[in-house]
Amino acid sequence: MTRSARLKAFAKVNLGLRVLYRRPDGYHELRTVFQTISLADRIDVAFTPARRTRIGVAGAQIENNIMVRAAERVLSALKIQGTVEFMLAKKIPAGAGLGGGSADAGAVLLSLPVLAGRALPAASLRAIAAELGSDVPFFLCGGTAVGLGRGEELYPLDAAPQGAGLLVTPEIHSSTADAYRDLSGTLSGCEEKRAQFEAHAWSGALPDWTNDFEPVVFARHPELKRVRERLRKLGAVRVAMTGSGSSVVALFADAAGRQRALAHFPADRAHAISFVSRAQYRAAWNKALRPHTKGDQWPPRSLFAR
Ligand code: C5P
Repeated sequence: MTRSARLKAFAKVNLGLRVLYRRPDGYHELRTVFQTISLADRIDVAFTPARRTRIGVAGAQIENNIMVRAAERVLSALKIQGTVEFMLAKKIPAGAGLGGGSADAGAVLLSLPVLAGRALPAASLRAIAAELGSDVPFFLCGGTAVGLGRGEELYPLDAAPQGAGLLVTPEIHSSTADAYRDLSGTLSGCEEKRAQFEAHAWSGALPDWTNDFEPVVFARHPELKRVRERLRKLGAVRVAMTGSGSSVVALFADAAGRQRALAHFPADRAHAISFVSRAQYRAAWNKALRPHTKGDQWPPRSLFAR
């Protein structure tokens, strides 16, 4: 028997991103505030039990798609086999600091156990997520959350205040590994950054949006700095690059200000966005999986899971 669902995999932005130091394991110790946004990929997924596992992705063709690895890990952790068919309608630009691949991987982790009629303990889901990528665990949480460590240690925050959000994604693919390499040699002021982050992030106010990647990524891609400055001049109350780029996210005081700013960028490169709160994120997931789930639990849980 085949079970299927149509999913929305929401993108994220970073409302501030401090990079403290390079750790002995090669990763960098971060302090960030993650926020899910209304921009989303659409994924149709179907699962059919079978003797052998076969995983296919139709629609957007992406080399070494993280969704396939995510599905393999879930089926192997559940000790089951089957056919998994994805149809991916890609809306989140890649290499843009929006967690596009991580959001898709998160979507697989949340949906596949439900469609397979099983349950994975939350700790196993988190472990698989962290192995797949540093940003993936956040998509098991959603809303507004502080990320520590590689970004996998998460602390939910109250919903960030809504503003009129605007996302500008220039046609630039910013490599995360290059950005870390450029930044690594310049890191200093760890204690000061940590103190500044803590003062803002836990205060309940809109966090400080300082992104430590901006100087090194702007040096490689000066166009991005011009986008940030233009958004400032157009009246954005907050503006910063997200992740290691290349998108720039801005908040305007009202929809009219955002509308005026939108007109200054090519239509396919600028999008009005809203923040998706944790309550909205979880409601969207529970709705997408409703025919297969028992109540509104988090993470969503199959009707048939023991
Ligand atoms: O975890 P993920 O696969 O997304 O990381 C991609 C690359 O970014 C890593 O190979 C590493 O070079 C770098 N990275 C880092 N510190 C982090 C997250 C990522 O150095 N906190």
